[in-house]
Amino acid sequence: MRKRETGLSRRRLLAGSGLAIGAAAMTQVVAAQDAQTDEPPTDPDFHDPDETTAAQVQSPPAPEPMQPGGMDWTWVRGQWALDWSLVDLSAMLFASNPRIVRNAIDRHRQGLDASPVTYLESRNRPLQNAARAAAGQYFGVAADNIALCESTTSGIGLLYSGLDIRYGQEVLTTTHDYYVTHESLRLTALKRGGTMRKISLFDRSEMATTAQIVGRLAANIRPETRVLALTWVHSSTGLKMPIRAIADMLAPINAARLPHEKVLFCVDGVHGFGVENTTLPELGCDFLVAGCHKWLFGPRGTGVVFGTPYGWSRVTPTVPSFLAPNAYGAWLGNYDPGPTTGARMTPGGFKAFEHVWAITEAFQFHGMVGKAAIEARTRMLATRLKIALAQMPHIRLRTPMDPGLSAGIVAFDVDGLSADGVVRRLRRLNIIGSAAPYATRHVRLTPSMRNTVEDVDYAIGALARIKG
Ligand SMILES: Cc1ncc(COP(=O)(O)O)c(C=O)c1O
Repeated sequence: MRKRETGLSRRRLLAGSGLAIGAAAMTQVVAAQDAQTDEPPTDPDFHDPDETTAAQVQSPPAPEPMQPGGMDWTWVRGQWALDWSLVDLSAMLFASNPRIVRNAIDRHRQGLDASPVTYLESRNRPLQNAARAAAGQYFGVAADNIALCESTTSGIGLLYSGLDIRYGQEVLTTTHDYYVTHESLRLTALKRGGTMRKISLFDRSEMATTAQIVGRLAANIRPETRVLALTWVHSSTGLKMPIRAIADMLAPINAARLPHEKVLFCVDGVHGFGVENTTLPELGCDFLVAGCHKWLFGPRGTGVVFGTPYGWSRVTPTVPSFLAPNAYGAWLGNYDPGPTTGARMTPGGFKAFEHVWAITEAFQFHGMVGKAAIEARTRMLATRLKIALAQMPHIRLRTPMDPGLSAGIVAFDVDGLSADGVVRRLRRLNIIGSAAPYATRHVRLTPSMRNTVEDVDYAIGALARIKG
């Protein structure tokens, strides 16, 4: 229900009404309004009680119509302002934005530059909530169960530092996970007193099977295991973990445990998010964290934490929220703000709001192209690359061929050359790839929806010639 108008809003109304009202009369009206005692206080977190709704303030440009009878991938590619002299196969690292996201950032930046405080007051809360709603619609999660953050790294840090892991309890993770997971868990263990245990799930990623992965995890769940911390798509090898099968393995174990003793299933999802045509309920984990500035091609410096209601009951926020409706009220009233929510887990503070607010358009863009189409396109390009590399005697493919165990990352080694050496030689041929920052470094090429078959074939031709 709309709140009763405040003095501020009436002032705006009068100012814009064109009514012939003298300055003295105006002062009297405003003074009378300001004297009212039942007015709600202006919220110090820039929550204007008369704030406009997201629908009123957003007005993004209408999506361009898609070609009838199938996706026009030339149109999709044309949404980017990339340097087309380069073959960019690095979607897994850092996004450039499609036009609709660039325009939204520009629009908000201009508004903030014109009047930072008033633009922020009227828009911040509805636009952050609109971003959460868009993320939720994309991933099958209620907006209330979504926190916004700055990156996968910050989301993982917030999540793991908020776990209640105590002496005698452990977090189970694997040797295949990324630095961000391991370091966050190490810091949590230092502060909380629990332990982290890393296990290996396979010897050769390209030969791994779902049964082997699930079997090794099942054999390692102990009575003291409270959290399972995994990564959806490994950024070293491109192996996609069978998240649903792992969740199904955990279900009977958890059914026999007390609520606070269940194994909380947490996933660094950044390299599946924006690629795979699925949702959090379909995956079945308790938490999935992802930066929006990789495969989602969203604003740089943005990320999301998706949680289930049970998941939120197991963590405590670290950074004070400005977004939770009662954040300041609880502080001023000196009461407990209550259970952890997505809003309470969203770090407060002033930030690059033009980027935070433009998360909505990133999801809008994926909706326009279509999740199924994006998954199919990414898979087709990655499979084409994998098939060609698997046939080259001087190349060892590290990513499984099976689309059930792979997504958009294609990882490989070239005999006699370091991963960095291969990346350098590819760059000389204007191909942008990367080397995995792990103890064992593989080369990674990551085709995405903005690439063409010709891009992939050009990289294949180059790799046929790059030899040690
Ligand atoms: C598995 C994984 N998680 C997290 C990150 C870091 O992502 P962000 O830049 O969103 O913090 C990376 C880096 O690419 C990664 O490979």
